[in-house]
This record gives sequence, structure tokens and C-alpha cells, in this order.
Amino acid sequence: MIKAKLNIKTKSGKYSILIGTNFLSRLSKIFQKNGLEFNKCFLIIDRKVGNKRIKEICKSIKQTKIIYLFKSTEKNKNIQSVIKILGLLQKNNFNRGDCLITIGGGIVGDTGGFAASLFKRGLKFINIPTTLLAQVDSSIGGKTGVNTKYGKNLIGSFYQPNLVLADTIFLKTLPNREIICGYAEILKHSLISSKKFFLYLDRNVKNILKLKSPFIEKAIFESCKIKKKIVQKDETENNLRKVLNYGHTFAHAYEASMAYSKRLNHGEAVILGIYSSLKFSLENNFINPSDFNFILEHLKKAKLSYNINKFFSKSDTNTIVSYMRNDKKNNSDKINLVLLRKIGSIDLKKKFNQQKIKFFIKEKLFN
Ligand SMILES: NC(=O)c1ccc[n+]([C@@H]2O[C@H](COP(=O)([O-])OP(=O)(O)OC[C@H]3O[C@@H](n4cnc5c(N)ncnc54)[C@H](O)[C@@H]3O)[C@@H](O)[C@H]2O)c1
Repeated sequence: MIKAKLNIKTKSGKYSILIGTNFLSRLSKIFQKNGLEFNKCFLIIDRKVGNKRIKEICKSIKQTKIIYLFKSTEKNKNIQSVIKILGLLQKNNFNRGDCLITIGGGIVGDTGGFAASLFKRGLKFINIPTTLLAQVDSSIGGKTGVNTKYGKNLIGSFYQPNLVLADTIFLKTLPNREIICGYAEILKHSLISSKKFFLYLDRNVKNILKLKSPFIEKAIFESCKIKKKIVQKDETENNLRKVLNYGHTFAHAYEASMAYSKRLNHGEAVILGIYSSLKFSLENNFINPSDFNFILEHLKKAKLSYNINKFFSKSDTNTIVSYMRNDKKNNSDKINLVLLRKIGSIDLKKKFNQQKIKFFIKEKLFN
């Protein structure tokens, strides 16, 4: 059943995000109802979605289809995969009136979306996100792209999908660590934009993490609504969209310092990053202690791991700060941080010198 619909308007077009549970058996009808007419489609499906769902999806899409099963790893999120997809589209005589459909997490969505943006300068594109992170974050806003040997997401495009379908049924097979990954972004969205939503999360976090209805749908919907508001105002990340980077300058540096080891996945790094920037805000008197403590209690209640000592030691500080300085959102020697003033309100573009951040990590974050 579809429970909520969000309409996104961008300079390059309009599309809808439909959120609900168990509506996979009606895909062709949903496409048609949303104005998407095509005869042929190319499905890129994450293998881990599982055979049962794959069969259900294939049965429900009545159009002619080519199926491409994708092994989602950051290593496979590369230009060779895009070239392979483009080759298959050509081999199977795809035209601009046909459609590319991604069914998977952010890796499938980013890689497939990038291929859709390139093929004959733009193929119809439907994104069916199957991880919590993809449902609340990566499927919204039109960023597509792949990794290179020089770093993550270095080649890409802004390309809006024609439709996004977020069905919570997919989340049932997701490992718990992946649920936490998505929750980290939901929490981030509440902190940067809405105290009311943060209070909702705080009251219902256990039900959300257990994927209970209607809490999970509401969390996805509110989260998408916040990202929608931001990306609609700043489609190509000129300024406002940088608030979405809250906690991520620290998080990216943590992931990179650990060479993207599975010991610390992206969502776990984001939780560490949110806590680090929060503590930095407190130390610099940007945030009042009561808001700081409220968020800290939430992290404890949700059993989210925010303690840097579990993953790093003081001797890693220089490496962490050098990655923070290299963050692609930094244009100078100083480090830009997006900081929280209070729950629901962010301060953009604060620049700090590296020594200050090194001191903070060594003396205030580690214990
Ligand atoms: N485009 C954007 O705006 C944006 C925003 C945030 C992140 N990203 C990108 O998204 C990627 C991360 O996305 P992600 O967290 O969805 O990762 P992912 O695509 O790697 O999926 C996580 C894991 O879950 C598995 N999986 C997917 N669906 C499943 C299901 N229904 N059941 C069981 N397992 C399933 C995948 O195979 C993978 O092992 C990164 O590459 C990141 O750069 C993009």
C-alpha cells in the first residue's frame, strides 16, 4: 500500500517519491499512473534483494525487460560497470523513450543513475531504493556517480529520476548495521532542520529501528521531506545543500583513515561524525549544554556507537585531520565544518585551522 507521496520540483524537472509497504506487485500500474509510458526497460538489481523479491518485481513489470544482476560493492561502483551497462543498452537497442530501473541500495542507484544520464544524453530513470539509507538519502536529489582510484564519487552528474519508489518491504532482509546506516541520515536530517522531527525520533526510535509500521514509514517520509526542501532550493550543491554535510567532514575522514574497512561502515562513521561535530560545537560554545545532552541521551537510547576510542587511538589524529583537510568540500587550507547551533538549526561555513581541530580531537574527543 502506498502511504505517502512527495512531489519534487527541480529546474530540470518534476518527479514523485512514493513511500509505502508491499506495493511491488503493482509496479507497471504505478508507472502508468505516474505518467511513465515505455515499452522496454533495463533492470539493474542488487543480488542481495533476494530471489523472492526479484521474481515478484519481474512478474509485476509487464514491459519487455532486460535484467542485469549487480554485486554491490564500492569496488564495483566504477566507470567499468557504467561502460558495461551502456554497452548492454546499445546491444539491446535501447532508445531514449525506454527506461532504466535501479533496484538496490545507493551503490546501484548511483551507478545506474549515472549510466542513465549518459545514455543518449538521458534515458528515463526509475529508482527503487532497497536500503534504508537509499530510501531516505541517496535516491533524493539527483546526485549520481562512481568512484575512481583517487576517491569516492569523483565522477558523476546531477540527473533527476522520473520516479522513486520506496517500499519498506525491502528493509526486512537488511542487516542491522545497514539499518543503522540509514538511521544515521534520518537523525542528521532531524538535527539540521526540525526539532519536532527529532522529538518524534526520540520518542519512537526503538520502533523505528525494529522497522515497525507506521513509525518506519513516518521516519522515511519526514526525512525525505527535509532533504526535498533542501535539494529543491539548491539543486547543484552551491551553498544550502552543504548543510547535508553535517557530521560528514569528520565521518569521511574516519572512513578514509580506516581505509574503508568493514570494521567501520559509512553509517557508523556518520554517527561518530555527528557526535564529533556536536562535541566540537559544545567546546566552542556554539550549542547549549542542554541540547548537547539531549542528543547524547538519544544516541545512548538508540544504542548508537559514538565513542571514537573504539575505533581509533590518539596517534591517528594527524591522519584524520589530513583527510578532513582533503575533503572535496574544502577549498582552502582551513577546514570547513557545518555546526549545530541548536536542535533543528545549523550554522554554515565555519572555517577552523587544523591545529585547533587536532587539539580538539586529541584532548577533547579521546579519553
Ligand atoms: N547520491 C547521493 O546523494 C548519495 C547520498 C548518500 C550516499 N550515497 C552513496 O550510496 C552508497 C551507500 O548506499 P547504501 O548504504 O544503500 O549501500 P549499498 O548499496 O552498498 O547497500 C548496502 C548493502 O546492503 C545490500 N542490500 C541492498 N538492498 C538490500 C536488501 N533489500 N536486503 C538485504 N541486503 C540489501 C547491498 O548489497 C550492500 O551489501 C555509497 O556508495 C554512497 O556514496 C549517495
